Amino acid sequence: MLYIANWKMNMTLQKVKDFCNELNKHAATESHIIICPSFVHIPYVTQTLKDTAHFVGAQNCSPHNNGSYTGQVPGVMLAQLGCTYCIVGHSETRVAYVQTDELVAQSAHQLLAQNITPIICIGEPTNIQQTNTYAVLEHQLEPIIKMLSQTEPTTIVIAYEPVWAIGTGTTPTIPYIREVVTWIKNHTALLTQHTIKIVYGGSVDEQNVQELMHIQNLNGFLIGGASLDFQKFKKIVGLK
Ligand code: PGA
Repeated sequence: MLYIANWKMNMTLQKVKDFCNELNKHAATESHIIICPSFVHIPYVTQTLKDTAHFVGAQNCSPHNNGSYTGQVPGVMLAQLGCTYCIVGHSETRVAYVQTDELVAQSAHQLLAQNITPIICIGEPTNIQQTNTYAVLEHQLEPIIKMLSQTEPTTIVIAYEPVWAIGTGTTPTIPYIREVVTWIKNHTALLTQHTIKIVYGGSVDEQNVQELMHIQNLNGFLIGGASLDFQKFKKIVGLK
């Protein structure tokens, strides 16, 4: 299972150090842990985790390679820092940076060119009928599928994150998540040359993860708030 910690714009350098120290005390497990700190903390985390079985990701990537894009960071710079994963199209960055579905696909493409695995977030904005959910997801996936159908075999992660479940303490029901995950799997089934992993995100915590982890075809979790506290994260991942 993948356990992706999305720290968002949280953690001081001291908290990052304490978290990494704790993480390093635990032997490698079968869990695949990916820590996504803010850009400025990436060098510290990659350096600290470099001899471990854990991975480091960024939280966003520019759709461009270089140029006059103040405040943006391209895939090539993330690769130089040792990132092997990067979240793209998170609902918070879609809003803050006016990222269209096409730009999200372009960012994912930039990452793949650097051998960085994109973690592509999709999800419906409100708790609406499932038919609308699929229309939203289909629209969000369209440029991604087009881009992937023209690229070499690779691995990508699709994070199903219903926006209404992020940071709210509310999750969809297990049958609902199961149905959406199955729909994503079927909808991307023609991309047989690629390995596509599907994770769920939105108010995952140390309590609900036990039930969520049995959902068929689900390969892991994207964890926000509960990943900031090492003790909670440890319980979610099942570290001894
Ligand atoms: P949350 O955030 O776990 O705090 O709901 C998840 C996310 O935004 O990736």
